[in-house]
Amino acid sequence: ENKRYFSKELLQWYQRERRDLPWRRSRDPYHIWVSEIMLQQTRVETVIPYFNRFVDRFPSLRELAEAPEEEVLKHWEGLGYYSRVRNLQTAVREVVEHYGGRVPSNKKDVSSLKGVGPYTAGAILSIAYNQSEPAVDGNVMRVLSRYFCLEDDIARSSTRISIEGLAQELIPGGEAADFNQALMEHGAMVCTPKSPSCLDCPVREGCLGRLHGRERELPVKTKA
Ligand code: ADE
Repeated sequence: ENKRYFSKELLQWYQRERRDLPWRRSRDPYHIWVSEIMLQQTRVETVIPYFNRFVDRFPSLRELAEAPEEEVLKHWEGLGYYSRVRNLQTAVREVVEHYGGRVPSNKKDVSSLKGVGPYTAGAILSIAYNQSEPAVDGNVMRVLSRYFCLEDDIARSSTRISIEGLAQELIPGGEAADFNQALMEHGAMVCTPKSPSCLDCPVREGCLGRLHGRERELPVKTKA
């Protein structure tokens, strides 16, 4: 079946081709969390040195919780979207206060933290805790819209919810951490927005968007 083919080939491709990124050397949920917040509006190459400096100065969640806000902001200078790091510091203080300094490993509690939406919650639960939770951002919606030739408008929340259901179904048992990162990596390296590298794609043989010659028109997105 096509879903099984997709999951198996994508995971094998990732295990061969994964980039060695600093946050991929850690299983610390706090490090995963910092990286996902930085990566939300910023490219991987830009994030790398910021991530390294940030976790060097604030190696654990408690150190970030206790740091003066000005110093935290200084380590974010140049990344922009400063509400991200203000929310992050608020949230790590909540973790110290309410969860004994451990990042919650259940969806309800992690989602209650300031600045942690469905994507970040899914990324933390899957990458740090290997739980079968989807982590669906724009890249993942693009990959799945193309592969399964889904024509629904990804700006609609009903579309996002149905893609989250599909993304969860696709996770191979016990492989949530690698599989979700494989989806992100494929969107970043192969199934790119403007000119996807279909000739190098590990799942081209099953891609329904490509079968119908629609890969460049997908995903459908109305509003900016
Ligand atoms: N973009 C969002 N999350 C990412 C991750 N964990 N690795 C690489 N790129 C990403």
